[in-house]
Amino acid sequence: MILITGGAGYIGSHTCVELLNAGYKIIVVDNFSNSNPEVINRIKKVTGKDFIFFEVDLLDQEAIEDIFNKYKIEAVIHFAGFKAVGESVEIPLAYYHNNITSTLLLCSIMQKFNVKKMVFSSSATVYGDTDLVPIQENSPLSATNPYGYTKLMIEQILQDLSNSDDSWSIALLRYFNPIGAHESGLLGENPNGIPNNLLPYISKVASGEINFLNVFGNDYPTKDGTGIRDYIHVVDLSLGHVKALNKVLRSKSIEAYNLGTGNGYSVIEVINAFEEASGKRVNYKITSRRPGDIAISYADPQKAQKDLDWKAMRSLDDMCRDAWNFVQKNPNGIGKTNLDKKLVISS
Ligand code: UFG
Repeated sequence: MILITGGAGYIGSHTCVELLNAGYKIIVVDNFSNSNPEVINRIKKVTGKDFIFFEVDLLDQEAIEDIFNKYKIEAVIHFAGFKAVGESVEIPLAYYHNNITSTLLLCSIMQKFNVKKMVFSSSATVYGDTDLVPIQENSPLSATNPYGYTKLMIEQILQDLSNSDDSWSIALLRYFNPIGAHESGLLGENPNGIPNNLLPYISKVASGEINFLNVFGNDYPTKDGTGIRDYIHVVDLSLGHVKALNKVLRSKSIEAYNLGTGNGYSVIEVINAFEEASGKRVNYKITSRRPGDIAISYADPQKAQKDLDWKAMRSLDDMCRDAWNFVQKNPNGIGKTNLDKKLVISS
């Protein structure tokens, strides 16, 4: 059995699908703090497979211990955590408590039950404001906001744990910019309220819900002046987790892997690709740079290709097509009514 924390979230839910498709037996825990119970039904619908689910908070040590007592867990894929950069600046204590304390508790329980295999959901944010691209795993690490620090600190905690006991086996997966949705249109990104990230925002402009996109700066040293990122299809990213799990189950080490495509696209290029895929206009205005943003970030994904036998296969057009398909099929998000959506956006 593989335990998935945060399995109802955006990347977690897609990874559950690929794990079930690959034949793994999974147990999912989620407290639905930024997701919806309907996601669990959707995972079952997409795969035609059943699995065990608990609505539980990772900070509830007793409830998590009960799960380890009851089931024979071989490894954990740890997604659960708060993830909004701006919010982390406003409520840092909540971010440190939720993300770090829950991971410490989880690791202690794993140690107690002699479950020493983990795939951790890290982020390219641990490379801070590096301007050396493509980014390799051995680039210097730093953080620029509390969310980033939680990822960096958890990586350090897991590194120290592995140093203290070499029977641990851990993969730190550093995601670049996951976008897109499941091809079925049943799963996708389902953010509460006004989105922060580029793709969910563009989707809302294309669907007419928001009038225009603010493009944060066109004076970066890039081809068209807008920021460049390595966008990766969430299904490719999920397949990367299956490969990382395979590796963690058969080895004893701690390794970090970039999960990206190795290609960088500018904000304007993403807008154009989305217009093409959706047939809709995406109105935008150039505004000032967003504080904390860097000009260019894209991965060198060769380590993952070599060690995990994984490579992202889906194009930017595929990502835009699937994102648009999801938005059209779920205009209110997953498991939400039109009323819920209005309440969240106005709150
Ligand atoms: N952008 C806009 N307008 C918007 C939103 C974004 O122009 O309304 C631009 C940004 O300036 C940036 C690009 O679109 O150039 C991508 O921005 P996102 O917010 O989608 O993604 P980021 O690269 O800023 O952040 C992502 C993740 C974070 C993670 C970070 C670093 O969302 O969790 O990568 O790895 F910390």
